[in-house]
Amino acid sequence: MEVKTSLLDNMIGVGDMVLLEPLSEETFLDNLRNRFDHNEIYTYIGSVVISMNPYRSLPIFTPDKVEEYRNRNFYELSPHIYALADEAYRSLRDQDKDQCILITGESGAGKTEASKLVMSYVAAVCGKGQEVNKVKEQLLQSNPVLEAFGNAKTVRNDNSSRFGKYMDIEFDFKGDPLGGVISNYLLEKSRVVKQPRGERNFHVFYQLLSGASDDTLKKLKLDRDFSKYNYLSLDSAAVNGLDDAANFRTVRNAMQIVGFMEDEVQSVLELVAAVLKLGNIEFKPESRCNGTDESRIKDKNDLKEMCELLGIEQSVLERAFSYRTVEAKLEKVSTTLNVAQAYYARDALAKNLYSRLFSWLVTRINESIKAQAKTRHKVMGVLDIYGFEIFEDNSFEQFIINYCNEKLQQIFIELTLREEQEEYVREGIEWTNIEYFNNAIICDLIENHQNGILAMLDEECLRPGTVSDETFLDKLNTICAEHQHFESRLSKNSKFLTDHSLPHSCFRIQHYAGKVLYRTEGFVDKNNDLLYRDLSQAMYKATHSLIKQLFPEGNPAKVNLKRPLTAGFQFRASVGTLMRNLQTKNPNYIRCIKPNDKKAPHIFTDSLVCHQLRYLGLMENVRVRRAGYAFRQAYEPCLERYKMLCKRTWPHWKGPAREGVEVLMPDLQVPTEEYAYGRSKIFIRNPRTLFFLEERRKQCLEDLAALIQKIYRGWKCRSHFLLLKESQIVVAAWYRRFAQQKKYKQIKSATTVVQSYTRGWQARKLLRELKYQKRCEEAVTTISAFWHGTQVRREYRKFFRANAGKKIYDFTIQRIMQKYFLGLKSTVPSMSPIDKNWPSRRYLFLDGAHTELRRIFHLWRCKKYRSQFTEEKKAVYEEKLEASEIFKDKKTLYPSSVSQPFKGDYLEISKNPKYQKLNSAVDEKVLLADVVNKINRANGKGTPRIFLLTKKSVVLADQKTGQVKASVPLPDLSSVSVSTQNDGFFALKLKEGSASAIKGDFLLSSEHLIEIITKLHRTGATAAEREQLDIDISDEFLVQFKQDKVCVKFIQAALKNGNSVSCKRKNNRLLEVSVPVMA
Ligand SMILES: Nc1ncnc2c1ncn2[C@@H]1O[C@H](COP(=O)(O)OP(=O)(O)OP(=O)(O)O)[C@@H](O)[C@H]1O
Ligand SMILES: [Mg+2]
Repeated sequence: MEVKTSLLDNMIGVGDMVLLEPLSEETFLDNLRNRFDHNEIYTYIGSVVISMNPYRSLPIFTPDKVEEYRNRNFYELSPHIYALADEAYRSLRDQDKDQCILITGESGAGKTEASKLVMSYVAAVCGKGQEVNKVKEQLLQSNPVLEAFGNAKTVRNDNSSRFGKYMDIEFDFKGDPLGGVISNYLLEKSRVVKQPRGERNFHVFYQLLSGASDDTLKKLKLDRDFSKYNYLSLDSAAVNGLDDAANFRTVRNAMQIVGFMEDEVQSVLELVAAVLKLGNIEFKPESRCNGTDESRIKDKNDLKEMCELLGIEQSVLERAFSYRTVEAKLEKVSTTLNVAQAYYARDALAKNLYSRLFSWLVTRINESIKAQAKTRHKVMGVLDIYGFEIFEDNSFEQFIINYCNEKLQQIFIELTLREEQEEYVREGIEWTNIEYFNNAIICDLIENHQNGILAMLDEECLRPGTVSDETFLDKLNTICAEHQHFESRLSKNSKFLTDHSLPHSCFRIQHYAGKVLYRTEGFVDKNNDLLYRDLSQAMYKATHSLIKQLFPEGNPAKVNLKRPLTAGFQFRASVGTLMRNLQTKNPNYIRCIKPNDKKAPHIFTDSLVCHQLRYLGLMENVRVRRAGYAFRQAYEPCLERYKMLCKRTWPHWKGPAREGVEVLMPDLQVPTEEYAYGRSKIFIRNPRTLFFLEERRKQCLEDLAALIQKIYRGWKCRSHFLLLKESQIVVAAWYRRFAQQKKYKQIKSATTVVQSYTRGWQARKLLRELKYQKRCEEAVTTISAFWHGTQVRREYRKFFRANAGKKIYDFTIQRIMQKYFLGLKSTVPSMSPIDKNWPSRRYLFLDGAHTELRRIFHLWRCKKYRSQFTEEKKAVYEEKLEASEIFKDKKTLYPSSVSQPFKGDYLEISKNPKYQKLNSAVDEKVLLADVVNKINRANGKGTPRIFLLTKKSVVLADQKTGQVKASVPLPDLSSVSVSTQNDGFFALKLKEGSASAIKGDFLLSSEHLIEIITKLHRTGATAAEREQLDIDISDEFLVQFKQDKVCVKFIQAALKNGNSVSCKRKNNRLLEVSVPVMA
């Protein structure tokens, strides 16, 4: 039976005190100290977790740790609060058992922190999802809000819970959180108006003043300075390690997450501010003439601001602070309040206002976090109540708090010590009784309905007549004097008469956790918890919606003359309900221990821890656990759970369950000292054995799971295989069909191809044969035709002459020629020599004849044309022909002269009387008479002269007078020079040595240059005795002027604005003639 658990292996000290050897207070303490020194703050006593407050953050609450402990057996890993939370959560989820987690310990021992760790663990391991996460977040965020309003710094704890809190977290069947319900128990409201030395008021006041923005404070009419408020203690306003400003932001954020609307938050803050303002209202005494004392408000500013905040009429509240109205049956009596009463009324209002606000907050949070679904749910309750506390000055609140702790201790004793031992006896298990202190007697002292302290306090409060704290103590002194846990100086018990540690106005109770001295002052008032009706009515009149809600009894329509229930009575009733509630659930204990009084890490004060482990009854707890059995279970569920471990009991056991278990245990070879058979249950001594059974069961479950898995897999594979096989057949059938179809189509198409080829081949063969046949037939026809032809020709040859063909040919040619000539006759062109038309030739073989005929026709019509000319006209054409020979293609001027007829005598010299004299001076016939320009050799300007040409000479005469200026015999002329261009300039060059040459050559210009030169050349040519006249055509020639030779140069000039030919003398040797040229 070797089972390894970390409880035993590699453990610092002993993880489970049950295994501690030897067991004594000393070894217990040593073990705790040893573990604490090694940061092991958790130790088990069986399933109870002892938690030591480390007063510093340890790295053992990380998400990794959460994962480590998740779904692990309780004893599998080293002790941890997570193991307990996991165990509780799994029992709730898997075994459908409602759970409660009871966290006990004195103030500052770490209960609140432990409760938060449990909640955060459960939140981390339970289901996830958007909705679930929202619920979790709301549940977790309710803590900072309640802590701000319900926690305060005390001398024992900087974050001491001043209210009791029990939270039910509701889960669905899957273990997902659905919501929660918070119950709160009696807030220590006296703290609102007065705090003991070294302590603070509730955190929220300091958080608001430090963390709110200036704007918010202004709206709330508050000042950041704590010292301005009477209700805030100053000596410990700042707490080490507490950042009030940051916490304020956290609280506001948490309120938002929980679901508070912005205006609700504002209302809450206004009420908090109102409480602060209320504390600043002060009263002064005023005596009236009738001798009664009255009070007046000293400075009304704070009252005014508070009334503004809450929307109350100032006069109404002022009156409520000054008078008290008592209604009895039909009577209403108003009495004035003196200063003390006024202060009492003020403080009562502040306390009520705050405590009601706190209760409203809890209700409001519950509204947000309550489960939406109405389905059946499982519950896990977490109880975090104020811890047992002993102050220097203990009052009603401490009495109530400690009573609550007594009750919790009682429930612990009931369930772990008494109940357990009684069970052994009941079940007939051999058992030696273990002594322990049962605090039922103390609980009875406090809560007994007849003579319990609370009952007597109520009696005092309800009793007519003068009632005071002293009368209450007297009552106690008489009634409880004999009680062994009650001590009072004036009790009948003479033992305390000389006990000076016991003042007269106090009584002392020996609580399970120590003796506590209670001062009776204020007991009656606090128990009565009276608020003058005038004040509650004034509050009800407020326009502030929240405050109106908080004071419903102020509604005049619902005046209730009954006395309200006392605080003690209410508390006792709610604690009773809580205890009954807890007893219906499976308890899980966390017992918190405070290692030192200094709130400091690493310090382990033996005496303090020893005291706690004594009063918590931890030693007894271990003893009972060791002597007893760690685990018990009824036979039926036990057999049901473990029957799979034995072949004889698995799968069905037919006999009684006990017999089955009796077969099972020896079969598993569990040592007999490890278990005992009770009447209805089996008891297992050691957790190891249970662990062993669970381990075997787990193994067996795994094997069973493997078997089920195997069979299931086999079945699944077989079904899958069968399905595959079936599918394969279907697929194969379809495939074969498809393949056959494909093959058939291929064969079919191949057959068609082969068939078509065969048919084609056959057809071609047939065609070939038919063609051959046809050719044979044709050949036969041809041969027979030729044969017949030959036969016929041979037969008819004798009927033809030998030259018949030639005749036919000749006849045909003749006929064609005839047709050609006749056709030509009708299409012959006109007689004009320049007509180029000629009919086209029709027969190729007549080409030569056709061209020749055209030439002959042309010559003939030219001859015809020429024969029409007269002699004069002939001479004119001859002249024109000569001009053409001289100038054609040589001078640009020539083409323009072709169309001009050569007139000869332009001046009509013989008829014009003006030239009679000149005519007579020339004895020869004038061949040409015209006006020319004689070019001046000096400047190139022209002078008009009459130019006459006769058969013998050239005469130049004055144009006006007709006087002969020069007469040059033609034989004296050697040559004539002209340019190639479009000008009329010409030079008459004289033969050197002739008589005319003395004066030099003539440079003339004429419009009829072509005619003049042609006639000069012709005259020269016809005169047989003279040499031919040279005509020099060039753009540069020399002219002899007297002795000098001058070069005449022709240049081309662009035609501009109709400019004409101009001649300029460039120098002595150059005359330049510029001739405009058409572009
Ligand atoms: N597990 C822990 N790790 C670190 N610090 C812790 C732990 N538990 C408690 N503390 C420290 O101890 C202080 C007191 O713890 P806590 O408020 O839980 O005490 P409490 O038992 O609820 O006291 P009270 O009865 O006065 O409310 C915490 O403010 C914290 O500083
Ligand atoms: Mg607490």
